[in-house]
Amino acid sequence: MNTHAVNPWVALAYLIAGVLFILALRGLSSPSTSRMGNRFGMAGMLIAVVTTLVTHDIAGLGETLIAIGVGGGIGWLIARRIAMTDMPQLVAAFHSLVGLAAVLVGWAAFLNPSAFDLLVVGDIIQAGNLVGIGTTIAAASRIEMALGVAIGAITFSGSVIAFLKLAGKMSGAPILLPGRHVINLGIIVAIVVLTALFATGNVAQGEYFAALTVLAFIVGFLLIIPIGGADMPVVVSMLNSYSGWAAAAMGFTLHNTAMIITGALVGSSGAILSYIMCRAMNRSFISVIAGGFGADSSGASGDAVKTDRPWKRGSAEDAAFMLKQAENVIIIPGYGMAVAQAQHALREMGDMLKAEGVNVKYAIHPVAGRMPGHMNVLLAEANVPYDEVFELEDINSEFAQADVAFIIGANDVVNPAAKTDKGSPIYGMPVFDVGNAKTVMFIKRSMGGAGYAGVDNEVFYMDQTMMLLSDAKKMVEEIVKALD
Ligand code: TAP
Repeated sequence: MNTHAVNPWVALAYLIAGVLFILALRGLSSPSTSRMGNRFGMAGMLIAVVTTLVTHDIAGLGETLIAIGVGGGIGWLIARRIAMTDMPQLVAAFHSLVGLAAVLVGWAAFLNPSAFDLLVVGDIIQAGNLVGIGTTIAAASRIEMALGVAIGAITFSGSVIAFLKLAGKMSGAPILLPGRHVINLGIIVAIVVLTALFATGNVAQGEYFAALTVLAFIVGFLLIIPIGGADMPVVVSMLNSYSGWAAAAMGFTLHNTAMIITGALVGSSGAILSYIMCRAMNRSFISVIAGGFGADSSGASGDAVKTDRPWKRGSAEDAAFMLKQAENVIIIPGYGMAVAQAQHALREMGDMLKAEGVNVKYAIHPVAGRMPGHMNVLLAEANVPYDEVFELEDINSEFAQADVAFIIGANDVVNPAAKTDKGSPIYGMPVFDVGNAKTVMFIKRSMGGAGYAGVDNEVFYMDQTMMLLSDAKKMVEEIVKALD
């Protein structure tokens, strides 16, 4: 029988690791405590890994050190090389590895159940007759394996598509297959039926297991291809959640409490983050999980930027003059600030304006940039005081009193089409009401370059808008020079 008695010291070590993971999540909830949160997480992971290695007969010390060296070395190299702006695709790629690991562990357990201590004694029935007693994989273990493999396969293929879309190797536009909801639902029902057949059979049948693995790979792919543009951030956090549940299911197969706790924490925190982001984006959670439900193919690609309309160009000197005269300035950073690494110059500009008696605030949209908290991290790195940084819902009403809305490398998050154009891919997403400010300064490199969603922006052509066409860092440095 597989009773899986747990040594109390191991249980205690895993419990401490679990508490450290919870403290890590708590720490990560605010920029001021996030470093501490990271340290808690690293300590928890160290305890969990060391406990697992010393209490399981996994491999020799030499093999283990080589595996840690190779894996750690690859991770170290990638982390050093990756640009901050490429983080979302890196995260998607890493999620795909978690999914694949879950599939491989599930199959390893199926092919060699005794190594995983999954066998139980049971009746052998052939053609309806009891022919003897033998060993088979316990029904509960089969359900855990099927769940782990199905969630893992969905996470793997979904994350590969998310990676390709985020890295620009595949069009970010939604691909809407006719009848996709019926197809997806049919496949999910088939996976549930195959899981039931696999779990209840007299012996664990490889055909059912193989079929549900293949179907899960397919549905992961189908769920992500219809999701486009502005909804990708939600998908990344949703896949993060899936990878957590896949790890938790793996934890059951491997009888590893730390893995179950960690997987459940990642799964539930990812689900909560997805829900928060859906609310921030004004999207229905179910729609995004169901794969672009309700997306309108006619307007999905939106309007490209039209450069033949009249617009006004300003210089750094014009901008500096007007900023100095202003009473209230709201700065809206976006992806372009991250690309240009303009945050330090921006803080210097903010400091100079504050010294002139200008009231300066920073407005952060929940999906500005390319990952959750992207702008907060950059502003914190440049030592912008936290009390000058405001969330969308806390500052949006203040644009009516602002003399200048200073947009630096943001685009979709200030696009009024999200409120006015039902066919736009960003329709429904809350955006900053920059049009209410007396003057709008818009830093971007060209009139042709659109935002992530690839749509034109009315703000470029408003009467009070001054386009400051340049690299963001260069432009802000010139404004700083002119202010001086
Ligand atoms: P975007 O809409 O992507 O606009 C970025 C703007 O920056 C563009 O107008 C671009 O125009 C400009 N830019 C690029 N490089 C620049 C540089 N070196 N100097 C100056 N400007 C530069 O940015 P956003 O407003 O932050 O919106 C974020 C978008 O990304 C949303 O649609 C969101 O859904 C999506 N997204 C977000 C996430 C997360 S979690 N935050 C993840 C994936 C996708 P030029 O090319 O003309 O310079």
